[in-house]
Amino acid sequence: MTNRITQLTETTLGKQMLRQNDSLTNEEKRVDHYKDGRPYTIASTVRKKTPLEELNLNWREQDLRERERTKHVHRLHPYLGKYIPQLVEIFLRKYFSTADVVLDPFSGSGTTLVQANELGINSIGYDVSAFNVLLTQVKIASYNIPKLKKEVNDLLLRLESGQGPDLSIQDLKTAAFNDEARKYLKLWFAPQALAELLAFRRLISEYDNQDLLKVILSRAARSARLTTHFDLDFPKKPQTEPYHCYKHARTCSPTSDAYKFIRRYALDTVARVEAFSAVKTKASVQVHHADSRNGKFPEIDGVITSPPYVGLIDYHEQHAYAYHLLGLHDQRDLEIGAAAKGSSIRAKKSYQEEIASVFRHTAENLRPGGRIIVVVGDKANLYPEIAELVGLEQEAILQRHVNRRTGRRSNEFYESVLIWRKQKKGTKNGSRREN
Ligand SMILES: C[S@@+](CC[C@H](N)C(=O)[O-])C[C@H]1O[C@@H](n2cnc3c(N)ncnc32)[C@H](O)[C@@H]1O
Repeated sequence: MTNRITQLTETTLGKQMLRQNDSLTNEEKRVDHYKDGRPYTIASTVRKKTPLEELNLNWREQDLRERERTKHVHRLHPYLGKYIPQLVEIFLRKYFSTADVVLDPFSGSGTTLVQANELGINSIGYDVSAFNVLLTQVKIASYNIPKLKKEVNDLLLRLESGQGPDLSIQDLKTAAFNDEARKYLKLWFAPQALAELLAFRRLISEYDNQDLLKVILSRAARSARLTTHFDLDFPKKPQTEPYHCYKHARTCSPTSDAYKFIRRYALDTVARVEAFSAVKTKASVQVHHADSRNGKFPEIDGVITSPPYVGLIDYHEQHAYAYHLLGLHDQRDLEIGAAAKGSSIRAKKSYQEEIASVFRHTAENLRPGGRIIVVVGDKANLYPEIAELVGLEQEAILQRHVNRRTGRRSNEFYESVLIWRKQKKGTKNGSRREN
């Protein structure tokens, strides 16, 4: 009898596994992690006592839908190189309490700060890229939602009713734009699209929610560039003619106007900000535009971050349209591991030293027993040496497959979650370092 039950259960389980495998995406079918039937971790169920060994961070598409990964302000603007909020949530829940302060010295689009705030944990972020800081500020700000809706609707109405500014590109002649910006904007936008973006830009100063309007403008500008639909991340040259589109499997034409994007993103932004304001807590949250190597960090209880990698992503260039349109201060020379500097042996060496110096600096301000959690795709195996240079105890390393559902790629991509711990007082790493 027991045998029969076991057999039946195994058959049922087998069928379930088959059904599960049927619904895997093509990418998931290539990766063993998704076929072993191990339950994945639901972020909201993680507690301080949840053992690290129990965490399964390999979510299938069906486990963690795009809608969840990009909930509320997490999709206020595209940003290449961010991590998913659920990954951050797991480590916030496991290692932090509500009175704590979490630092992200490479805060990027603000994922750590937004998630920490949702859980009532205080947070502080630093980033050297002006646009990323602007985006984060807009995500974490508190809004008077009815007033915001009124402003955005008023602006849209003025643009669409023809009561707004004249459509021209005369503004390019003003001191708000330098020669490089003029050249870029004329090259990457059709005349009509550029005139519409400039009209929106001119209206911004008449409203209170200026930073939020700047983010809407930037998102519309990104979509209104003369690019193909399948290469919005790093287009190499403007696309001025119709082309075969891999994304839509037909002939597509580059866009000639921007209003449709302005309207779509204006409404979407307001809806997302409103959704976040419903879960936003009173926990303190701040972001600073600064180089983390010299950041004046406060006392912190821990760090959760994903640092830039060596020679991989240009964090300024990916938002070049925003820098030129909004006149933001470009500090690309201060990016650690800057893509423009490549990934030579020399570049890797200085990357290791610079990243280690940031973490040593954060460790000085970390309370004894606190953790630094680093999420990184370390293809070149640079982090064992970085960990040595930082000098904290390495508590654990978790691996996960990055199940990126967008973009065309053929290679699998894995990332590691490194957990470093500062020893409690009286032990080897517990006393404060002098440098
Ligand atoms: C991998 S991204 C972080 C993404 C972030 N976790 C998110 O989810 O949006 C790395 C960030 O480090 C920033 N960065 C590079 N060099 C820096 C430096 N010296 N100081 C501060 N931030 C820096 C880049 O501008 C980029 O935004």
